Amino acid sequence: MGFVARFLVFMSLFTGLVSGFALQKLPLIQFDEGYTHLFGDQNMIVNRDGKSVRLILDERTGSGFVSNDIYLHGFFSSSIKLPADYSAGVVIAFYLSNGDIYEKNHDEIDFEFLGNIRGKEWRIQTNIYGNGSTHLGREERYNLWFDPTEDFHQYSIMWSHSHIIFYVDNIPIREVKRTASMGGDFPAKPMSLYATIWDGSKWATNGGKYGVNYKFAPYVAQFTDLILHGCAVDPIEKVLSCQDGAAEDFRLASEITESQRKKMDSLRRKHMTYSYCYDRTRYKVALPECVVNPEEAKRLRVNDPVTFGGIPHRHGHGKHRSKSRQSI
Ligand SMILES: *[C@@H]1O[C@H](CO)[C@@H](O)[C@H](O)[C@H]1NC(C)=O
Repeated sequence: MGFVARFLVFMSLFTGLVSGFALQKLPLIQFDEGYTHLFGDQNMIVNRDGKSVRLILDERTGSGFVSNDIYLHGFFSSSIKLPADYSAGVVIAFYLSNGDIYEKNHDEIDFEFLGNIRGKEWRIQTNIYGNGSTHLGREERYNLWFDPTEDFHQYSIMWSHSHIIFYVDNIPIREVKRTASMGGDFPAKPMSLYATIWDGSKWATNGGKYGVNYKFAPYVAQFTDLILHGCAVDPIEKVLSCQDGAAEDFRLASEITESQRKKMDSLRRKHMTYSYCYDRTRYKVALPECVVNPEEAKRLRVNDPVTFGGIPHRHGHGKHRSKSRQSI
């Protein structure tokens, strides 16, 4: 190998190390270290190992948990195994939100898993809201390249001041770059991390055509390999305290490596089934941050029955909470 070739190999190794954010090396936490029960009394079960959790939906209630801290930026991750078999109408969400603090201008970053009828696959939806931009959904939807009910797979959100990246099994599937044109629509206020399971019969499957069938309950979603790596905000003092190396990690994580980007592009080509950027029924003109790719536009013009609805924060949790109190 000549010097130049060797130098290039060396450089690519080097940049690989520097910009390849080592997701897999981040510390896993015990449930109690980072989270508390949010709603659904007995329907949230922490396993004996203290590291994994089951969220259950049955005819009584769904359930959920929430991070103890609120974060301004971070890397948030869990391995999740979804309920098998008939799951139409079931929604499992893994998301950041501050809807409880900012009623009118909240921020949100979502992974939503949408159940399906028997023999049809789960779909994932990603979305963001910033500063109360709930009239503008920025949904994307994908089918999965594996059976999410067979094994655990890792779902992660990286949120920095300039980027949001959604990962599945450490492969980026969506990158949202903050642009000036987005204005306040880019999530920018501290948020909590939530995981919930609930009945989305009204919208989750074929726009509400198929609802939850409690004959197949309980629906159980399993969570493990919990990672909360970020900058926690003291709500009273408003001081930021970042875990070791966290600030530097976000900077690195914001830069998707070339090989990761190739994988992302390929996954999106094969598995993305809907993007708000190509939905001319909703948006006559694509939102300003959209970079329209003619090939993608052609493919996505024919999309599956459109599903929206989103997470019933505020009202949802309030309702679930009081429901669970009534049943005690
Ligand atoms: C966010 O919303 C609030 C209240 O509507 C508004 O006063 C503020 O200017 C907005 N911030 C940004 C960055 O758009």
